[in-house]
Amino acid sequence: MKKEEAILQIKRASKHFGGFYAVNDVSLEVKRGQICGLVGPNGSGKSTLFNTILGLQKPDSGDIIFNGTRINDAAPHQIYNMGMVNAFQIPHIFPSMSVLDNILIAARDYPGENMIESLFLRRKWQEKEQKLIEEAMEILKFVNLDMLGFALTSELSGGQRKLLEIAKGLMAKPTLFLLDEPAAGVNPVLGKKIFQKLQELTQEGMTFLIIEHRLDLLFEFASWIYVLNKGIIVAMGQPHEIVDNPDFYQAYLGEK
Ligand SMILES: Nc1ncnc2c1ncn2[C@@H]1O[C@H](COP(=O)(O)OP(=O)(O)OP(=O)(O)O)[C@@H](O)[C@H]1O
Ligand SMILES: [Mg+2]
Repeated sequence: MKKEEAILQIKRASKHFGGFYAVNDVSLEVKRGQICGLVGPNGSGKSTLFNTILGLQKPDSGDIIFNGTRINDAAPHQIYNMGMVNAFQIPHIFPSMSVLDNILIAARDYPGENMIESLFLRRKWQEKEQKLIEEAMEILKFVNLDMLGFALTSELSGGQRKLLEIAKGLMAKPTLFLLDEPAAGVNPVLGKKIFQKLQELTQEGMTFLIIEHRLDLLFEFASWIYVLNKGIIVAMGQPHEIVDNPDFYQAYLGEK
């Protein structure tokens, strides 16, 4: 597939709760290998839009197309298996498990407790697990958590949990990674490091769609921004265009 092709296309998608439209006739495209930003004030529908892309909430109308396939009716695990993963606004991790175990269970081909494999294919299973552990340790190193591999996740700070959530996503080797506020609760230096790391991953062909309230960071690294207000895309463009767009400020300042 060509690099300039869109990996994700949303065509006229809407999602309403009763009579309230959280996402209202939204169309957008995310290009392969891009860091694409989605911004907007609180309650503008960003997370709801993510949920409809991920198959967690079905859109009421419109089309969600991932890698050329319409995924409106696909279940979250099917979409995950197609190569799209996400990191939640609030990290979804198991607190009583170690950092390493949390990331291992996110591996797409983790053998886990498969009885047949563990009984009859013990050596193969061990080799596979060893390889996955090495991969996991490399990813933990990438997000600066390698010293905490055997710590319990309950011992991690809020920022470290964010990093673990990102590491879990990377372990699944996604082609498209949706991140909901990766820099929230993370100190400014680490926040910038996270974005630098994501940019490195675009060199390997990974694509990111990122919701972020830290606009300074997002605008430094994203190549395209969509601005959502009350469920509607009110502005789009390169970061330098967005900062000159009155509709962007209007979205944040609200009605006069
Ligand atoms: N399951 C639901 N039922 C009813 N209303 C909902 C539901 N989920 C979201 N909403 C409403 O939809 C609107 C958009 O919410 P959403 O969480 O998508 O906003 P957001 O842009 O992610 O906000 P934030 O920046 O605060 O995370 C809000 O008014 C919210 O109250
Ligand atoms: Mg949100």
